[in-house]
Amino acid sequence: MDYKKLISNRKSVRNYKKIALKNEDIKELEAYVNKAKRLISDIEVEAISMGNEVFSKLNGKVGYKGFMLDAPNYILLLSEKKDDYLKNAGYIGEGIVLKALDMEIGSCWVTFDDSILVKSSLGINSDKDVVAIIALGYDDNKTKVINLHKTGENMSKTKLDIVSDNTSERLGVEDIVYLNTWGNAATAEELENRALLNAFHYSRLAPSTLNRQPWRFILDDGVVVLTVREDDYTGSYEEEVDAGIVMLYFEAIVDSTLTDITWTLNAPEKKYNIPDNYEIIGYCNI
Ligand SMILES: Cc1cc2nc3c(=O)[nH]c(=O)nc-3n(C[C@H](O)[C@H](O)[C@H](O)COP(=O)(O)O)c2cc1C
Repeated sequence: MDYKKLISNRKSVRNYKKIALKNEDIKELEAYVNKAKRLISDIEVEAISMGNEVFSKLNGKVGYKGFMLDAPNYILLLSEKKDDYLKNAGYIGEGIVLKALDMEIGSCWVTFDDSILVKSSLGINSDKDVVAIIALGYDDNKTKVINLHKTGENMSKTKLDIVSDNTSERLGVEDIVYLNTWGNAATAEELENRALLNAFHYSRLAPSTLNRQPWRFILDDGVVVLTVREDDYTGSYEEEVDAGIVMLYFEAIVDSTLTDITWTLNAPEKKYNIPDNYEIIGYCNI
């Protein structure tokens, strides 16, 4: 998959054509879950595809303020409950989002806080926890979102403060990447010199709950440390899934432009003056 292109074109789709996905496309997405790279390989995860009945069964129970998206199809992820399983779910779930987009299928994450309620509402009989609900279908919004090419080829020369489109905005790389220690903002030129501008540029385009963009990175010699903000209005589900998503983005771009990397989901030995409302998710060596 061309991750740069897919990430550039991705957006949350909230209005769907009333056309169900083709069976073979559903099968392809399910198969993708089984073969795609995972953040944590020894956690059992399975995908379940469901149709539009999910809308009436979950409306009022999941989504922002109970607002469920009315989509022709949904994919749910069920996971074993082990350490970091929700980060793993974010990583795998966003892989489905990008795979679907590659097949010209739109999607949107739907948040929730009660796996048992979701399972009982949908008649799912499983020991595993529901860890992702993703609405799927063809975008009914005729407006094309082209938001990134203004920074396109010349990212280092262009001001990267905020990217606007008709659905969401993003912080610039200077706002989310610190050099060596907390608060010491990196410039696009410094990141380009380290061949990491692309990776951070695409990472900041990751979707996050309520577009809160909670991720901050510290680049310290050959180490990239990921921290994520804990907000009063989000729960641990959203914080961990948001973290898993951005790890996928960073890794996908570094893998395709530089070298293969692996996230270690622990704090590094060095302390970086991280404020109390941020948590160190992990780090990777570059
Ligand atoms: C874990 C997670 C949960 C989300 N839950 C919902 C949701 O319940 N309803 C919704 O409309 N959007 C939901 N979103 C989509 C975000 O609001 C969206 O990604 C963000 O506003 C950025 O917009 P974009 O995806 O169009 O770039 C969720 C996103 C994530 C990552």
